[in-house]
Amino acid sequence: MPKVDIKVITDVALFIGASISAYYMMSVLLSQDGPSAKSSETKKKANESLQRLKMLNPALKLELNDYENAVLASVVTPFEIDVKFEDIGGLEPIIDELRESVLYPLTLPELFTQSSLLQAPKGVLLYGPPGCGKTMIAKALAKESGANFISIRMSQVMDKWYGESNKMVDAIFSLAQKLQPCIIFIDEIDSFLRERQSMDHEVTAMLKAEFMTLWDGLTSSGRILVLGATNRPNDIDSAFLRRMPKRFAVELPKPEQRERILKLLLNDTKLSRDFDLGEVVSCTRGFSGSDLKEACREAAMNAMREYIRSNFKDGIRLSDDEVRVRPLKTTDFACVRDTIKPVSVD
Ligand SMILES: Nc1ncnc2c1ncn2[C@@H]1O[C@H](COP(=O)(O)OP(=O)(O)OP(=O)(O)O)[C@@H](O)[C@H]1O
Ligand SMILES: [Mg+2]
Repeated sequence: MPKVDIKVITDVALFIGASISAYYMMSVLLSQDGPSAKSSETKKKANESLQRLKMLNPALKLELNDYENAVLASVVTPFEIDVKFEDIGGLEPIIDELRESVLYPLTLPELFTQSSLLQAPKGVLLYGPPGCGKTMIAKALAKESGANFISIRMSQVMDKWYGESNKMVDAIFSLAQKLQPCIIFIDEIDSFLRERQSMDHEVTAMLKAEFMTLWDGLTSSGRILVLGATNRPNDIDSAFLRRMPKRFAVELPKPEQRERILKLLLNDTKLSRDFDLGEVVSCTRGFSGSDLKEACREAAMNAMREYIRSNFKDGIRLSDDEVRVRPLKTTDFACVRDTIKPVSVD
């Protein structure tokens, strides 16, 4: 009986195993080339965006490549946005200036052909602490200007395949060109355009350079605008900052701004006769717009909780009467309750 060499058998088994895994890996790699391999979710969104764009402009003829199609999923048409300037409280000076320097050049370009100096800015930066209305302003701007809005997520651009990211950046600008007037909105722009460093990955460095070149290439007609928002303006590369000459600080609201925001937030809520808005304004010092929204929601929940406690027993509603939640009191706001000192009884 021939002698079986264990080493030869192990080598053959290893060889077969390695070949199978190499074949499997190659087939996975080959099936994932380019954005066409992106999820069916992206394709669905892109298709929906296209339908909406066609509804807005039936004459629109779009010849798009794969990359532009991938970006199409991030296009928001004005009528999908439900934020208007009038919904934003206390930021009227910023809104007025945006109207003059951004909105009119986008919607009335003929006004700005009088002089070569009258050019719309190609970049606008909104900066300030979280929750103060930057994203809201960006959306309202798109809504009121009637411009298409490409809202870019960096994860979408930073493709894992070498070379794909550059094509995605190209596609953002070429699609914007086809859809103008168009706002390219980059939220948290610092995560993408932060200070360039020598240890930047080669692809990241190339991507930033490509972005800048395309940005510079925008024609002066002003119908494409790059709009950035950030909490950390100091982290943004100065070369990029230079391309966003219009900068707006969206700071924590001051008392009169908080009053405007609270009035907007409580607009459709019934308030008790002795409701003291001034007291709520003064106890919400340091609150952002989104903190104020949360405080109002909590206060409304307070009244609702009382209604539930007196109208429900063991999860069953006690009567079919119309839902009548009592009007909101100043003390429904937790910060007001916290500032009221309990009266000492002794
Ligand atoms: N000035 C404001 N007027 C009315 N509502 C506001 C205002 N600021 C913030 N809000 C409320 O807070 C929410 C969050 O605001 P927004 O998303 O615009 O903040 P942001 O500045 O973009 O924050 P972040 O830096 O975290 O992205 C809004 O959806 C809105 O409900
Ligand atoms: Mg935001």
